[in-house]
Amino acid sequence: MDTLSGKIAVVTGGASGIGRAVAEVFAETDIAGLTLADIDGGAAEEVAESMRVRFGVDAIGVATDVSVADQVDGMIRQTMERFQRVDILVNNAGIAPVTRWPEVTEANWRHVLDVNLNGAFLCMLTVLPIMERQRSGRIVNISSAGAFVGSVCAHPAYGVSKAGMIAMTKSAAKEYATSGILINAIAPGSIDTPLARRFGSAQVEAFRQASPMQRQGNAREIADAVWYLVSERSTYVTGATLHVNGGSLLV
Ligand SMILES: NC(=O)c1ccc[n+]([C@@H]2O[C@H](COP(=O)([O-])OP(=O)(O)OC[C@H]3O[C@@H](n4cnc5c(N)ncnc54)[C@H](O)[C@@H]3O)[C@@H](O)[C@H]2O)c1
Repeated sequence: MDTLSGKIAVVTGGASGIGRAVAEVFAETDIAGLTLADIDGGAAEEVAESMRVRFGVDAIGVATDVSVADQVDGMIRQTMERFQRVDILVNNAGIAPVTRWPEVTEANWRHVLDVNLNGAFLCMLTVLPIMERQRSGRIVNISSAGAFVGSVCAHPAYGVSKAGMIAMTKSAAKEYATSGILINAIAPGSIDTPLARRFGSAQVEAFRQASPMQRQGNAREIADAVWYLVSERSTYVTGATLHVNGGSLLV
C-alpha cells in the first residue's frame, strides 16, 4: 500500500522545484516508470538520469512546452511507447512572472494562462482517454494559494490561472468519478523553489512573516501531499483542493 510499484507517472515541470521533489518521492517508493516533461529538456533529462542512477527507476526526460498541443501529444506518445500506460499525471509546470497590473498586456496575460491553465488542460485532454480505457488513473493539478487570495507579486493572470485549475479539477472529477479516475488539486503556499526565489528576499520574508508557522514550505512537503493523492492511501478523495500552506490562508 505504501509503494507506487508498477505505476507509470507523467510529471510536468519535473526538472525543478516541486516537480523534481515529486519525481524523487515517486522514485523512492518504487514507481515503475517516470516521464519528466519540461520546457527545459536538458534539465529534465538530468533529473531522469539521477532517478535511474539513484533509484533504478526507468525514467525519461522529454522536452515539452505544455502550452503547445503537438508537444503534449508527442510527449504522451513517447510515454505510451515506452511504458504502455499512464497511471498518474501531475500537472505541475507553471510560471509566475513578477508583473504588476500597469505592465499587463494581452500577450503576457495570455502567456500565463497558456502555460499554467491551458497546459494542464492539454495534458488532461490527452491523458484522460488513456485512463478511461485503463478504467483507472490519478491526476493532481498544482494550483496555488494565489487562487484564493489573488496574485501577490506574480502576474495578475497567475491567480486567475490557478483558480481556473481548481474549477477544471472539480468538473473533470465529477465527470470521471465512475471511471476509476480521481482528480484533485493542491494549493501550495509559499514554497522555497527557484520560482519563489525570483520574487526577491523581501517578498519571501513577507510570506514567512504572514505564515502562522513563520516559515516557507519546502518542495518535499508538497511532493508528499501529491504522493498521498496518487497512492492507495487515498481512494475516496476526488474534486478536492488540498491546502498545503502552513496555515497562511488563516490570517
Ligand atoms: N514555489 C511556490 O511558492 C509555489 C506556490 C504555489 C504554487 N506553485 C506552483 O508549483 C508549480 C511548480 O513550481 P516551482 O515552485 O517548483 O517552480 P520552478 O520554477 O522551480 O519549476 C517549474 C518548472 O516548470 C517548467 N516550465 C515552465 N514553463 C513550462 C512550460 N511551458 N512547459 C513545460 N514546463 C515548463 C520550468 O522549466 C521548471 O522546471 C508551479 O505550477 C507553481 O505555480 C509554486
